[in-house]
Amino acid sequence: MEKHSSDGISFTAGNWPVDADRATLLFIHGSGETGLLWENQVAALAPDYNTIAVDLPGHGDSDGPGLDTIAGYAAAVMAFVDKTGLANLVPCGLSIGGAIVQQLLLEHADRLRAGILVSTGARLRVMPQIFETIEKDYQQFVAMSRMFAASPHTPAAVLEPLLQVTARCNPSVTAGDFRACDRFDVMARLGEIARPVLIISGADDQLTPPKYSDFLEKNIAGAIRCRIPEAGHVVPVEKPEAVNQAIRGFLERISKP
Ligand code: COA
Repeated sequence: MEKHSSDGISFTAGNWPVDADRATLLFIHGSGETGLLWENQVAALAPDYNTIAVDLPGHGDSDGPGLDTIAGYAAAVMAFVDKTGLANLVPCGLSIGGAIVQQLLLEHADRLRAGILVSTGARLRVMPQIFETIEKDYQQFVAMSRMFAASPHTPAAVLEPLLQVTARCNPSVTAGDFRACDRFDVMARLGEIARPVLIISGADDQLTPPKYSDFLEKNIAGAIRCRIPEAGHVVPVEKPEAVNQAIRGFLERISKP
């Protein structure tokens, strides 16, 4: 896996340059995170698909500033897609990343093959305690994430690399991400989505509970649902094999004539 950069956006690619004949999985991380969230997917799915994990503006090695709207982040992702000339696009996002994928499905469907929504929802109100803690004591917020982000079944060590990434993120960027989530609401627009969609949810997710995925499943025509037991919000690191299997199955299914 190699790190690259295009116009200030840093990304990890399983293969670079991409193979134009394959589907391109474009992975988008959660609030205060980086493309590292998807390292298992980028590596394991690379033999069969183009796999790319971006750092959103202001995150990881990408240039700033961070943003505070989902529409702004979606526009930044599309600018990256235009610059790099990616096609056969299947964006796959977690939490805020999943909100960005919904925005892309609504505003740029003609550019997408399909979309994958992981640990997310059509509305993402944020607990006031999250904003207060980020403002008062950012490292306390990181410690708090340790309690909320994973299933009780997930060994604590699995989460550590992600928490270190969040700890290094500029607190104002993380706060901007949560403001973007808090304002996001496309509950009334899901019926407009007309591309194949896979929804992945962890049974023990406390931040975007399975109820949010139930709503996505019910309101996106033809959506396919994958429920993963003993997993929380950061299911791609908690249950990488199950997530990869779900993504493979979905891509095989939508590639059948
Ligand atoms: N899909 C389906 N239903 C949803 C939804 C979604 N994406 N978002 C909210 N709802 C439902 C809620 O379950 C609730 O239903 P209820 O009245 O039957 O209990 C209703 O819509 C209103 O909820 P909400 O808009 O969230 O407002 P609230 O004032 O009730 O709660 C919070 C606010 C912040 C306490 C709540 O959103 C929450 O606990 N969020 C999860 C924790 C968090 O901060 N996550 C971070 C996400 S990035």
